[in-house]
Amino acid sequence: MRASARIIAGIAAVVLIATAATAFAIAWRPAIATIDPPGPQAFDTALVKRGRDLAAIGNCSDCHTLRGGKNFAGGLPVSTPFGTIFSTNITPDPDTGIGRWSEAAFRRAMRSGVNREGQHLYPTFPYDHFTNVSDEDDRALYAFLMTRQPVRAAPPENQLSFPFNQRLAIAGWKLLFLRHDTHRPDPKQSAEWNRGAYLVEGLAHCGACHTPRNALGAERVSAQFSGGDVDDWHAYAINEQSRSPVPWTADALFAYLREGWHPDHGTARGPMAKVVSNLSSVPASDVRAIAVYMAGVSDKPASARAEPNEAALARAGRAAQTNSAGASIYAAACASCHEGRRPLPYSGVNLSLSTAISSPDPRNLANIVLSGVDAVEGERSPIMPGFAASMNDEQASALLNYLRARFSEQPTWTDLKKTIADARRTQAVFLQTSPGPRNAPADPQQREKP
Ligand code: HEC
Ligand code: HEC
Ligand code: HEC
Repeated sequence: MRASARIIAGIAAVVLIATAATAFAIAWRPAIATIDPPGPQAFDTALVKRGRDLAAIGNCSDCHTLRGGKNFAGGLPVSTPFGTIFSTNITPDPDTGIGRWSEAAFRRAMRSGVNREGQHLYPTFPYDHFTNVSDEDDRALYAFLMTRQPVRAAPPENQLSFPFNQRLAIAGWKLLFLRHDTHRPDPKQSAEWNRGAYLVEGLAHCGACHTPRNALGAERVSAQFSGGDVDDWHAYAINEQSRSPVPWTADALFAYLREGWHPDHGTARGPMAKVVSNLSSVPASDVRAIAVYMAGVSDKPASARAEPNEAALARAGRAAQTNSAGASIYAAACASCHEGRRPLPYSGVNLSLSTAISSPDPRNLANIVLSGVDAVEGERSPIMPGFAASMNDEQASALLNYLRARFSEQPTWTDLKKTIADARRTQAVFLQTSPGPRNAPADPQQREKP
């Protein structure tokens, strides 16, 4: 080794050791002392009630409840590109849950993604958004969780490969990507807009699904809301890149987010159905605030996509003669509902209004065609049968190509056969991880009005 190379190697070693020491210093968090479980009577009922609504806005139960399992007892596998992480038990069980956590320990988990013992938590728990939640709201969430039924249940071990199985590595991730207080009130905007911004950027963590992620799983802030992935679904772009054939307005967003359906946009399905199901149970004013804020986000200078409802509908008359196999499947299996005379929403919207067909990603359309739209238990709701058993991959891909050509102005999708095969394979996964929307999409007339 030449002398200069040796010096460089020496410097590199010193830098490495220094970095490791700094990383350790930054990474280390003390444990917070355990408390005796306070018991439900220790909390004010009004505070608990508010915590209940906040927990619904934060979708806590969707990730922390296994289908058919006890509420908040954890154990749901959350798949990530790095492996599977299981959600934890957040009931007040003293041994396997958070029964011995003080409010300070809970707040630290929400703020900084550190558990009571001082270990770093994976950002699958969306604390990169929850860092914006106020102390007051954390107090209400804590009161709500500590008054739930304690359940004894330990989650399975995470299945992650090296180095992702090292919790210390999360400290490095945080150093690179975790920003605190990313939400600042804007005094130029209304109180309603500010409330919406606070919820969207914080507890409601809309960006966790709708913002694309980088190679290390962090949201790409510069591409906020331009479309992301969740559980084999595409969470559409909901900013100015939205492909919705009819632009979203605050009123349409309010209806869709609260009732799971709007005549210009159809239903919310998959992971979004669960979001809507939660939002249908919280104060309408909070959903309205979210809609008002998001309408501003998607309301940037409208691009060519923005066309009135009539123009989108007129396109539906356009015949696409090139794909006769797809056309005959559509005529036989779909048109009777989607062009039928039954009233909306039971018939299914005209497909030229569907973002699923205009989206750059065909996965949602494949999911809908194969699995259909499930009925909502105990409510009169739109239903569409699944076609997984009655169509082979060839037929399904001819149909999807036809729908794309006839009902959108977007370029042909490539690799549809693979998308369809993947959608078939993962059907079983939705069945496991989705508890099924509890009250959406549903008959808006039946929904209790606030
Ligand atoms: C997208 C899924 C998801 C959502 C939504 C979610 N969590 Fe979690 N949460 C997780 C996962 C996964 C973990 C485990 C992370 C780990 O092991 O590092 C976790 C961990 C936690 C922990 C740490 C518990 C412990 O024992 O270490 C708390 C507290 C918590 N979540 C509370 C909440 C609350 C409160 C909400 C709603 C406001 C919520 N979570 C919403 C997925 C989620
Ligand atoms: C757990 C992941 C997840 C979260 C959290 C989430 N979404 Fe979604 N969202 C989706 C998915 C997936 C779809 C596509 C659903 C479909 O195909 O019906 C969607 C669809 C939508 C649509 C329809 C877009 C269109 O053009 O059809 C809107 C609007 C929307 N979401 C807004 C929101 C807002 C606002 C929030 C926060 C309050 C939010 N979403 C939170 C996953 C999510
Ligand atoms: C029994 C009636 C029925 C049949 C048959 C049917 N659908 Fe549906 N479809 C519905 C209903 C109801 C919905 C949910 C309401 C909505 O989104 O419009 C729906 C939703 C959809 C959506 C989502 C629209 C949106 O919200 O973005 C697509 C895409 C779709 N159907 C395609 C098809 C295709 C393709 C076929 C034929 C293979 C088909 N449907 C057959 C009733 C039906």
